[in-house]
Amino acid sequence: MNILIINGPNLNMLGKRQPELYGGETLNEINDCIQRSFPEVDFEFFQSNHEGGIIDKIQTTAAQGVVINAAAYTHYSIAIRDAILSRADIPFVETHLTNPKEREPFRRISLIEDVCKKTFAGKKKESYIEACRYLIEYLKGEKK
Ligand code: DQA
Repeated sequence: MNILIINGPNLNMLGKRQPELYGGETLNEINDCIQRSFPEVDFEFFQSNHEGGIIDKIQTTAAQGVVINAAAYTHYSIAIRDAILSRADIPFVETHLTNPKEREPFRRISLIEDVCKKTFAGKKKESYIEACRYLIEYLKGEKK
């Protein structure tokens, strides 16, 4: 099984970036933990600070499913929403380290929520693990 993990802008700064909110682990440490948690899955880890880079990746991926933390783009990128809609052939699962719905009002809207199968948020690294577990079960036909 092939799964693509997409991380959007500023998530390359994890470890240094507002650790009181996002935790002290780096993105590489989180990615290693994801791979260790699901050794049977072939993961690709992609991070970009650029909207177009994320869109190109969504358009061209050969993965069977995608876990996406679109970071700030979650709240205003119609283009990333449209890219997800253009890949109706594969499932997307939204994830966030924090729970944006409990933060500033401008973070309460997600433009990708309703085009993803499910959202996992607010549990730091564990949000990614839960999102991957859900996607794996979905791809095996065990989840709707
Ligand atoms: C985030 C939440 C977003 O609002 C924020 O812009 C991020 C990270 C999260 O994982 O909690 O960059 O997606």
